[in-house]
Amino acid sequence: MQARQLLAALAPGEAVSGAQLADHAGITRAAIWKQVEALRARGLPVEARGAAGYRLPWPVQLLDAARIRAQLPRAGASRLGALHVHWELDSTSSELQRRLDEAADLSFVLAETQTAGRGRRGRNWLSPPGMNLYLSCLKRFDRGFAALSGLSLAVGTMVLRAIESLGIEGAGLKWPNDVLAAGGKLAGVLVELSGEYQGPCAAVIGVGLNLRLTDALREQAGQPACDLATLAGDPPDRNLAAARLIAALVEGLRQFEKDGFAPFAEGYARYDLLAGRRLRLSGAQGQFEGTGAGVDARGALQVRLADGGLRSVDSADVTVRRA
Ligand code: BTN
Repeated sequence: MQARQLLAALAPGEAVSGAQLADHAGITRAAIWKQVEALRARGLPVEARGAAGYRLPWPVQLLDAARIRAQLPRAGASRLGALHVHWELDSTSSELQRRLDEAADLSFVLAETQTAGRGRRGRNWLSPPGMNLYLSCLKRFDRGFAALSGLSLAVGTMVLRAIESLGIEGAGLKWPNDVLAAGGKLAGVLVELSGEYQGPCAAVIGVGLNLRLTDALREQAGQPACDLATLAGDPPDRNLAAARLIAALVEGLRQFEKDGFAPFAEGYARYDLLAGRRLRLSGAQGQFEGTGAGVDARGALQVRLADGGLRSVDSADVTVRRA
């Protein structure tokens, strides 16, 4: 029995004895125990309930391409390039990069778990199976990198639209595209561009969305983290959440291709967690302080300085100062 089959057996959230699992898979109880340990090592809190056996503290819906497709709006489904769901990948974004030449526009790759999930600034992205979403999308563009300014911010608004479409409020954006809620990171967006500066190019857009975190995972995250379970009581069905995310990206990326960042500016302003906040910035322009004043038509952060001037920032580390 592989870790994947064990997770499927435990998915309903009811206790299953080691003997039953071993019988079913035709392997020893020791081999079952080894797989339980493998799931635990990846961050899934499999409980041991004495004679009753093993159980998960909550039911899990395994990702399923057919269920995801069935929950896409018709327009989204017809525009989708491809949809691949894997049990395990190093990284969904690395997988799409490897398939860059042959993959159709608006192809999506999801994985139950990633062994080398990548975050921004070279960070790892924790990717336990059965709990969160790890998804990457390929979008091709014709008009070069210059037409892509604001893309990563626009993707942040697409993620928020998807979350709101699940009836979950309370999340916002920390420039450029950290999706935060209750002071912690709810989702991360990693946009990687390749191709020609003034011609055809491609964006591999990776999104990690936390549906359910354990205390241990929060500690390992290395930064404050939040999940949809905290905001919503129970997290949404994972296949439904994946479908909403895919639908929002398909629709949003097509709009971005046509009109650029401009149509997303209003949405961004609605979610902007830095507007009106005292900020400390450090980047190529050195260190300075000011007050968040929204973003411009290209997605650059606008910072009001003490002398009343406005500084435009394309890239910087931003921290919010305590009042
Ligand atoms: C961030 O650091 O804020 C960005 C995190 C992006 C994580 C996602 S998970 C799916 C995709 N695959 C990866 O390896 N990274 C992205």
